[in-house]
Amino acid sequence: MMEDTILVTGGAGFVGSHACIALHEAGFRPVILDNFSNASEKVLDQLERITGQRFPLVRGDIRDAATLRDAFQRYRFDAVFHFAALKAVGESVRNPLAYYENNVSGTVILLQVMQEWGVRSLVFSSSATVYGEPRYVPIDETHPIGSTNPYGWTKVIVEQLLRDAAKANPKFLALALRYFNPVGAHESGLLGEDPLGTPNNLVPFVAQTAIGRRDHVPVFGTDYQTADGTGVRDYIHVMDLAEGHVAAFRTHHEDSGFKPYNLGTGRGSSVLEVISAFEKSCGARIPWKSAPRRPGDVAVNWADPALAIKRFNWRAWRDLQTMTDDVWRWQSAYPNGLQERTL
Ligand code: NAD
Ligand code: UD1
Repeated sequence: MMEDTILVTGGAGFVGSHACIALHEAGFRPVILDNFSNASEKVLDQLERITGQRFPLVRGDIRDAATLRDAFQRYRFDAVFHFAALKAVGESVRNPLAYYENNVSGTVILLQVMQEWGVRSLVFSSSATVYGEPRYVPIDETHPIGSTNPYGWTKVIVEQLLRDAAKANPKFLALALRYFNPVGAHESGLLGEDPLGTPNNLVPFVAQTAIGRRDHVPVFGTDYQTADGTGVRDYIHVMDLAEGHVAAFRTHHEDSGFKPYNLGTGRGSSVLEVISAFEKSCGARIPWKSAPRRPGDVAVNWADPALAIKRFNWRAWRDLQTMTDDVWRWQSAYPNGLQERTL
């Protein structure tokens, strides 16, 4: 399976681009397909600087079957790693149709073209959001499934699609990797998370505050039933996540069926712990202010990653300090990220 050619949809995005590095390091050949709705083409240059390899690029959309067919014909993919999706929870509430169209219809078209070309393995970017409101922590894979917003439902629906596709085709393999909170950046500082507009997620917001693009971090809720009153999450370094994909695929590439796995560290960190780790990384105080709880947020959420650890011979070993150190290296080298924008 070394030298296998892998279609990486959304491969210019945050998680997909780091997965391309992990794939390359493991001896695979990634081919990136991206419509650049949330990424810069400069990612390809950065990947080349990191790996010494120019990865082939298909500029296109997963909803465009003709583009997909051309790519499948040209590259003869052995498997697909499917990252392409819209991912902003608030936007999905305001514009659900765009989310169902992109994330669900796009995946249906991708699966149809995979079927036409006899490509039988898919690694899918799922999310801990498929567990809805956590009924208990740590969350294992048997936790009930549900959602609280349209983005989350797109992940639940695609997982169901994959379950059904695997039932119908006994050779089909679908690995649904349920990410907890991906953060961090490549250790080179050349690649990292590059959100457009105001970040929704904590770590990019803290990073932009540290670099002076925001004046303070609003801490959404300081009266939760947690040690310091702030929300606790399972932050996982994006390179651990990327390596988790490769480990999952290596473990299961000859199997079939629908297989869901949590990818998390099994450790929770509070908002204030994240800010404090980031202060050590950048060597300065990061201003923050108490703000009301964000609607839909829960106090605590972290993974039970035991299943992935047991099956893949993998674990997330990079700690919170490494995550914030790597984000700071990236943020200070590229204060405005790679996408075209003004400060
Ligand atoms: P991202 O926005 O950085 O990457 C997604 C990439 O897909 C972007 O480069 C975008 O341009 C591309 N894309 C979107 N729609 C497309 C389409 N129709 N055709 C082709 N390309 C398209 O997001 P990310 O953080 O890297 O997330 C990757 C995947 O992981 C997504 O499926 C996301 O839902 C999932 N996920 C992310 C997180 C997170 O916190 N980052 C958590 C859980 C799950
Ligand atoms: C959010 C999404 C989740 C998605 C995940 C992707 C919501 C309700 N949930 O999860 O569906 O899968 O991102 O990574 O949007 N916080 C602040 N100030 C900020 C930003 C965040 O205090 O400016 C706090 C939050 O209240 C939370 C923690 O930081 O306690 C982490 O927030 P975030 O990074 O947005 O991740 P989640 O809410 O876990």
